[in-house]
Amino acid sequence: MVAKKTDPNSTDMVDIIVKKRDGGELSKEEIQYFVNGYSADEIPDYQAAALLMAIYLNKMNERETVELTQAMRFSGDTIDLSSIKGIKVDKHSTGGVGDKVTLVVAPIAASCGVPIAKMSGRGLGFTGGTVDKMESIPGFNTTLEPEEFVSQVNDIGIAVVGQSGHLTPADKKIYALRDVTGTIDNLSLISSSIMSKKLAAGSDKILLDVKCGEGAFMENEESAVKLATIMCKIGKAAGKTTIAAITDMSQPLGRAVGNAIEVIEAIETLKGNGPSDITELAEQLAGIMIYLGGRAKTAEEGVLLAKQSIHSGAALMKMKAFIEKQGGNPDVVEDYSMFPEAEFKADLVAETNGYVKKINARTVGLASQHTGAGRAKKEDKIDYASGIYIEKKIGDRVSAGDTLASIYGNSREKVDRALGEASEAFQIGNDRTEAPVLFKKIVEV
Ligand code: URA
Repeated sequence: MVAKKTDPNSTDMVDIIVKKRDGGELSKEEIQYFVNGYSADEIPDYQAAALLMAIYLNKMNERETVELTQAMRFSGDTIDLSSIKGIKVDKHSTGGVGDKVTLVVAPIAASCGVPIAKMSGRGLGFTGGTVDKMESIPGFNTTLEPEEFVSQVNDIGIAVVGQSGHLTPADKKIYALRDVTGTIDNLSLISSSIMSKKLAAGSDKILLDVKCGEGAFMENEESAVKLATIMCKIGKAAGKTTIAAITDMSQPLGRAVGNAIEVIEAIETLKGNGPSDITELAEQLAGIMIYLGGRAKTAEEGVLLAKQSIHSGAALMKMKAFIEKQGGNPDVVEDYSMFPEAEFKADLVAETNGYVKKINARTVGLASQHTGAGRAKKEDKIDYASGIYIEKKIGDRVSAGDTLASIYGNSREKVDRALGEASEAFQIGNDRTEAPVLFKKIVEV
């Protein structure tokens, strides 16, 4: 059989699929044809799925990846932040377990004069999302009209909302299809998905926190650096300075995994009492944001300013103003009993003496999801009070009978199931294991 010849700039979906299937390079027009046609429901799922699999197997080069991102970025609304004074800096984490860092760095950076106009996501599967966490604050509203959003940032320097429904519709459809066609973990598809949303959200500069380890998409540092590099190149090609930090996600971040308990941990960090890993990461990332936002000459100076803003209480004051402005009761910062509380608790207890060797972040994330803190499907309701609190982290000494973690929830059955799952996450060894290096490297292009 003679293979079908393809037109170099085809607007025929079969030609485009065949070209990629045979290892060809797609033109800008072909990429736009696919993205626009699929977003408009003119290209059926089976053809889109075939193209995604061809991209997955034969990859896209840098130019194709940049063009795919730009086509997705402009597939729906884009946010115009030009009426906000100052350099707007966005921060994005590629996702993890116990990652409440946005709730710490956003008020720190805002208190240092960097306007934060941020759209955050919800949790899905084993990873949490900032919007769900914020909604555990009684009354907190994560939906603002565009004018309210902009005027709040001009007024108090910070607003964080859920992603607008009309932003990057192409990503919504393509991501959902990737999820069910085994085409998630491809560098071009992941980077275009993340960066199309960041570019559409309108900030001037972008800080990416690319996680690596068992609780992340990228399980090792090498693949995390590759993902970071392509995302920085996409940002640069779009005229936005983009810096990526490669950070550890081989164990959960901090101690709290859930929603309300994570917000409490974030507030404690703003008071200067946070776990050492969250504190270190938040100071480093806030330092880079302060530098990107033109409020420090270097990232190191930014870190000093971040530390001062925690020490002086300025970051905590900003958090209170932010909670109040978005409809929450700012007294939660002093009175944690205002957060929803779980009815049931079960402790995971060490059976032997030794040292914590490993805590599988993904397993903890899944166990937390099963307490009710996360959702398996978009429509699932979150139980804000539930989650897992980790008492012992990698490198800690334990004696038989010590509590390794506590499981919280409002259903005895769910708590018991999560307890069994969480027990699989911990490994205790005889020798002391060093805690993993948290802040691995910076990627800039
Ligand atoms: N996060 C996204 O938004 N998209 C991906 O493809 C992976 C992580």
